[in-house]
Amino acid sequence: MTHPRGLTIRRFATAVQAARALARRVARDVRANPSLVLGLPTGRTPVLFYAELARLYGEGAVDFRRAVTFNLDEFVGMAADDSRSYRAFMDRHLFSHVNLHPRRIHFLNGLEPDSASECRRYERQIARAGGIDLLILGLGVNGHIGFNEPGAALVADTHKTVLTRATRRANAGLFGGHLREVPGYAVSMGMATILRARHIVLLATGRNKATAVRRLLQERITTRVPASFLQLHPSVEVWVDQTAAAKLSDVAD
Ligand code: GLP
Repeated sequence: MTHPRGLTIRRFATAVQAARALARRVARDVRANPSLVLGLPTGRTPVLFYAELARLYGEGAVDFRRAVTFNLDEFVGMAADDSRSYRAFMDRHLFSHVNLHPRRIHFLNGLEPDSASECRRYERQIARAGGIDLLILGLGVNGHIGFNEPGAALVADTHKTVLTRATRRANAGLFGGHLREVPGYAVSMGMATILRARHIVLLATGRNKATAVRRLLQERITTRVPASFLQLHPSVEVWVDQTAAAKLSDVAD
């Protein structure tokens, strides 16, 4: 199956090369538009990318002073300063290394007891910022993006969601490998929030992503593979290393 217009695949030999290229790309976009509104993911995949971005900042290749960020998701019940939160992850890997203005960093508050109003607040903030210019996404082994889990239906806007066991297992690393400590709920941008971004780059590396990458690119759109909804977006790039591309059929390029 040929992939739809609007969706392009970029293959890299290694995950390191993909991360470096993505950091250069983001740096270039921020140079071109210093107030760029970025959407950012967490997970193991973007760690190298953030390290590269921090390195480029250290070299003076990019200035984040006016840039704006919105992270995709956060665990429910997790304080921002809890070392296991996504917010703390971002502080460790990016925010503490670059000159993003704290007021321009946006995060869902996992401690807010009224999740619905917290999610509405986030949507309003995104809208007020003029929308997301460039959204970087990771990919769950089960095809999730953000915390939009596979299921019978997807939720359009930012919402509270139940995490699947597979996703909790994939996140156990942040919790010392203890599955029972991984929260059962998260707040996440919804599928429409994601699809409203002007441009999307999904980064997927490693053998364990190969099936999800194939489903996202070469199978039909289904709520069972939330990432397949990216086929509906007019401007998406899927960046993969060789191992994540291993199950793509040849027509993919
Ligand atoms: C997490 C996050 C996603 C991320 C995904 C992949 O559950 N909510 O935003 O893309 O898992 O993570 P990793 O890069 O560690 O495989």
